[in-house]
Amino acid sequence: MIPVVSLHRTVQVTPVNAQDIVNQILAERPRAPASATADAPEVYAPANIALVKYWGKRDTELNLPVTSSLSVSMGGHGTFARVTPADAFTVTIDGELIPSESKIATRMGAYLDLFKDFGGPFALVTRSTVPVGAGLASSASAFASVVAALDATLGWNLDQREHSILARLGSGSASRSVTTGFVEWVAGERADGMDSHARPLTETWPDFRLGLVKVHDGPKPVGSREAMLRTVETSPLYAAWPAKVAGDLRSVKAAIAARDLRALGPVAEANAVAMHYTMHGAVPPVDYWLPASREAMHRIIELRQTDGVPAWFTMDAGPNLKLLFEAGSEAVLREAFPDLEVVAPFSTTD
Ligand code: PMV
Repeated sequence: MIPVVSLHRTVQVTPVNAQDIVNQILAERPRAPASATADAPEVYAPANIALVKYWGKRDTELNLPVTSSLSVSMGGHGTFARVTPADAFTVTIDGELIPSESKIATRMGAYLDLFKDFGGPFALVTRSTVPVGAGLASSASAFASVVAALDATLGWNLDQREHSILARLGSGSASRSVTTGFVEWVAGERADGMDSHARPLTETWPDFRLGLVKVHDGPKPVGSREAMLRTVETSPLYAAWPAKVAGDLRSVKAAIAARDLRALGPVAEANAVAMHYTMHGAVPPVDYWLPASREAMHRIIELRQTDGVPAWFTMDAGPNLKLLFEAGSEAVLREAFPDLEVVAPFSTTD
């Protein structure tokens, strides 16, 4: 491995690249569609919200994480995708053909290029069922659905581990969007990342709810890739993060097994806050919190302390909050946050 110079940590860059991993996984798979694919199937992957966060890469090319992480998939909120072999790469999102020079088309084009020897180039069409403007990143469900769509069109018959590894090459958190329910992304130890993939938990929690509190939907000041790298390389607070995550993973898994929100909520909330503090310690600092984010955090803390409402928050690389609660608290939370979008991750009808 080649160490990349950094102030506090060493991020490893392996001699293995993303193309090697794709070639390895697809080595025995068909290289082109068996027949015309005008009726290529549309497939779905859910978005996910981490309860114990992924923050920091040990390998930036393969999106290998420093620590494991754990999320809950968002049921019916995610991305549908369809890929069809075409003369040139195009991407259409929610009915709109995206200009090829845009950031999103460039990123998706580079990703689909990894698969061009297996039936590409591809025309990609996606549509999102994530509430519009709810302040949710859609890259996790996007990359997971694209891999599922490639698999469906080209007949690869990927298993869940392979699906997760290929989705991870697009975006780390996409490795967890390969199935419903609670999902752990096991960090793995191998330099090629073949042991770094999703592992679903068996537990369900029908009353578990996520609430989306949007405070701002403008572009992020810093993307998560750059923010993670800067945190790992310059924040003295990052040294404490891996041990914190290890403890939080144990606590959150035990809380899920017991369906105990009062055990889960405080740990998930503190995990998100600690992640943000590691970023605040970076040079220059990465600060996604807006005054309205802080106001919403204080509102939740006040509802808990004053009114005894069992609700906690988590936050990702942005200013919006995601509330963690159970069905019984929905009415009071809707009153406190009139624009709240509620997601029931274990409901089949939501
Ligand atoms: O998958 P990425 O590179 O967009 O990183 C996502 C990081 C967080 O959303 C902040 C945490 C997580 O575990 O999803």
